[in-house]
Amino acid sequence: MRKVNEALIDDLLSQLTLEEKIGMIHGQGLFQTAGVPRLGIPPMKMSDGPMGVRNEFALDSWINVGTTDDYVSYLPSTSALASTWNRELAYRTGAVLGAEARGRGKDVILAPGINIKRSPLCGRNFEYMSEDPRLVEEMVVPLIKGIQEYDVAACVKHFAANNQETDRLEVDTYLDERSLREIYFPGFKASIDKGESYTIMGAYNRLYGEYCSQSRFLLTKVLREEWNYDGAVISDWGAVKDTKEAAESGLDIEMSVTSNFDNYYMANPLLKAVKKGKIDEEHIDKKIRNILRTMLRLKMIGEERKERASGTYNDPLHREIILECAEESIILLKNEDNRLPLKKSEISTIGVIGQNAERVHSNGGGSAEIKALYEISPLLGLKMQLGGNATVRYARGYYVPEAKKKELNWQSNSLDNQNINKKEKSLPKTIKSRQEELLQEAVALAKEVEDVIIFAGLDHEYDVEGKDRSDMDLPYGQDRLIQEVLKVNPNAIVVIVGGSPVEMDSWSKDAKAIVWTYYAGMEGGTALAKVLLGKVNPSGKIAESFPKKLMDSPAHKLGEFGKHGKVTYNEGIFVGYRYYDSYNIELEFPFGHGLSYTTFEYKDLAVTIDESDEDDIKVEVKATIKNTGDIPGAEIVQLYVADMKSSLPRPVQELKGFTKLYLYPNEEETFTITLNKESFGFYDEKEHGFVVEPGEFEIRLAASSRDIRLRKTIKVDKKYSY
Ligand code: BGC
Repeated sequence: MRKVNEALIDDLLSQLTLEEKIGMIHGQGLFQTAGVPRLGIPPMKMSDGPMGVRNEFALDSWINVGTTDDYVSYLPSTSALASTWNRELAYRTGAVLGAEARGRGKDVILAPGINIKRSPLCGRNFEYMSEDPRLVEEMVVPLIKGIQEYDVAACVKHFAANNQETDRLEVDTYLDERSLREIYFPGFKASIDKGESYTIMGAYNRLYGEYCSQSRFLLTKVLREEWNYDGAVISDWGAVKDTKEAAESGLDIEMSVTSNFDNYYMANPLLKAVKKGKIDEEHIDKKIRNILRTMLRLKMIGEERKERASGTYNDPLHREIILECAEESIILLKNEDNRLPLKKSEISTIGVIGQNAERVHSNGGGSAEIKALYEISPLLGLKMQLGGNATVRYARGYYVPEAKKKELNWQSNSLDNQNINKKEKSLPKTIKSRQEELLQEAVALAKEVEDVIIFAGLDHEYDVEGKDRSDMDLPYGQDRLIQEVLKVNPNAIVVIVGGSPVEMDSWSKDAKAIVWTYYAGMEGGTALAKVLLGKVNPSGKIAESFPKKLMDSPAHKLGEFGKHGKVTYNEGIFVGYRYYDSYNIELEFPFGHGLSYTTFEYKDLAVTIDESDEDDIKVEVKATIKNTGDIPGAEIVQLYVADMKSSLPRPVQELKGFTKLYLYPNEEETFTITLNKESFGFYDEKEHGFVVEPGEFEIRLAASSRDIRLRKTIKVDKKYSY
């Protein structure tokens, strides 16, 4: 982490009164702490979130300030960004978020969310990256660096094992230490070691009985002692439950959703406890040091104050990067008979079916909601890209019941922990008949026109903070709609807009082309239209597995999910493809899958191993990729390592590297990926560390976890540990 002038911290600390220190370690506003004006210490101003800077709230109530100066750029969700597998784009996207946050005068942007996608049902999956820790590490580091380029702190969240929304404030998570270290920690560790995230947010849930935001195990032992973290730890909003626990843990700032700021656990109750000698003031001083250090890094105080970046928001350049990110995030899941791309010149009339064609999503999802400057819907994007010579006929296709009026200040009630997403089992008659009418209208349209695109999927009623989905079904009768449309028009293209996997089994065999888009930001509709019309060659790959049915998912089949109280992760390290590939489970689409309008050849794999260094291995993996089709395109090449024999059970293979290559027709490129011991080890609880056992390992280059193109075996002679 960037070193700062510690002498200045000592000096300021020595001048602060106890009351002033207390003011700096808890919310004195829903999104800010108290400053100390007499010493030139400003308040720390924070804002959500991952898809753009959230609207401005009043200082002490969840009332939207309501002016028009808080419209912002709407960025692709973190799940969309992850499916680009483009580190450099992650950096630039981060820089957009950082510039906008600083432009809005913020010091901390409460993003990114990087919890592992353990179950397809987690309501916040759309805010997270992947089921794979390696992919998270690789994408989060440049993202954080980009954000912090603008002297705004990233706040990587929610530490740790925060993988369900049901009972999110109380649920007590149990998993073995190996899984914690191999699956759930690496993204956070990389965010700190390599990304140098200035702040980190504790989670709501409990881990081994301790609330994460005041956990001695997580915040003191792991974060401070093992990982030497000296940045600021911020609680989730309302996640602190006890004054002494919080004060004596590695937590620095307590935030909450209520406006009784003086009653926060780390406010008056702490002040009293210190005065009575029940809690040592030294604990508070540690927090102040971390906060002042963070302020120095952000140039909020100290000599560099005048050099602080000012940022800007709604800059046209931001929209270009957002569009590029959206374009690279779209995934072509299936394309039989080269059904896509559609040829613009051949389209005279096109049928657009399904409400997700015209719905906007930026204003939903929970704390990730934003006031977007604009949002191009798929229908708008398509019309913009098609121009006026083609007729677009639109049928809503399915009925979306009027969403319950969103409480403007839902967050103030969010500590009630009552939210369960229950699907309406039987619909009232009137709705049923309306649904039938819309379906028939869509089927009639599909019969009349040759080119049909169905825009189906989810929305933020389902991909939402505070609730998990109850199943993996498409809501609003969309399965039937897709089936019926495909019956009369087998060429219809299916586009799914969503934040987490849905069951597709009832129609996926019949659909020739399936396209997936996560919530892809303000230019999402433009990007989608460009992909459908072949102006952009798709190059995204899914950063998670799409199971055929919910009960295939290891979190559900082997572990527990969505329960209140105690939840045990019995599947251990076998999360996502680690389970599906090891147990040969048939999938709808495997991890890392995504097609292109061109084709790629993988060739000339060469692997060398060097064990001359006592402490580390160096393995160089070299290969060549050629674009064998006739248009430019990009291929994400994945490198998996398989341990052929090990003393503890291991997944059949694990992702250890990847690269994305942009190639013209007939062009080829040779690349090298260098691996070290961390690509071969596993966590051994007996040794309290990672070990690499000597023996054979297979290096696999693949287009997805189920499409291995090249392999080579190497032999490791020595044992390593780390
Ligand atoms: C969410 C956090 C968010 C915070 C502030 C909480 O409900 O879990 O991700 O940053 O609220 O809005």
